[in-house]
Amino acid sequence: MDDIKKIILEAGEIFKKGFYNLKNVSFKGKKDLVTEYDVAVENFLKDSFKKVLPDYTIIAEESSNDIQEINNTIIIDPIDGTTNFVNGLPHCAISVAIYKDGKEHIGAVYLPILNEFFYAKKGEGAFLNDEKISVSKENDFQKSLIATGFPYTCGESEEDLEFIVDRIKRVLPNCQDIRRLGSAAVDLCMVSKGVFEAYYEIGLASWDLAGGMIILKEAGGSISDINGKELNIFEHKCLIASNGEIHKTLIDIIK
Ligand code: IPD
Ligand code: CA
Ligand code: CA
Repeated sequence: MDDIKKIILEAGEIFKKGFYNLKNVSFKGKKDLVTEYDVAVENFLKDSFKKVLPDYTIIAEESSNDIQEINNTIIIDPIDGTTNFVNGLPHCAISVAIYKDGKEHIGAVYLPILNEFFYAKKGEGAFLNDEKISVSKENDFQKSLIATGFPYTCGESEEDLEFIVDRIKRVLPNCQDIRRLGSAAVDLCMVSKGVFEAYYEIGLASWDLAGGMIILKEAGGSISDINGKELNIFEHKCLIASNGEIHKTLIDIIK
């Protein structure tokens, strides 16, 4: 864990340099941005992890994103919340998940600008900057703060746009309010910390969610697909994450 933390903190220095300086921005799609810093942070993480965990396969958003198999595997999103990163909004993070023998082992989500380091090791609880965190106990949906996200595909797919608008119509009147923070990894940490009661989003990739998912489970939260079944991190329609208390209600509303 110490080695892993040290590597991610060091990668955070590259991240911070990029956040506070002008950057080259290009478009992977109509709405999907990438900067030279996404690539630089990813390369640094890959090279460093290869030294401490040489037998591990690496799945990483900007370079090795076609692997859909978990064994001894590291999953990296070098910058989750790139739109925030480009626009100077500090809710952006490095997300890392480590699987050992096919099982969840370590999750880390680091927000370098806010100096918040979330991490969890299976069976040992979840932490923010060394303080234990846990999900909220709220069980009243009407009093719950719910987060969601909008996949880049909603710029092209009428079906995805419809899904998003329709679910907001169903959720908004029945909860305290809705937030769209712009980073799936941060959203999952906010549920882990008890800030949000739940978070849902369609079309996420494994690197968006894997680190935060391990943290959330260790913080006592629940995560599933839209049917309440175990989430396949590579293939699912909609991720549902919550404090456990309002999980079923959220599924009933969304489904
Ligand atoms: C995105 C963020 C965003 C979510 C998108 C993701 P990126 O990741 O997590 O919150 O709504 O679906 O793709 O592109 O900033 O790494
Ligand atoms: Ca992402
Ligand atoms: Ca990213």
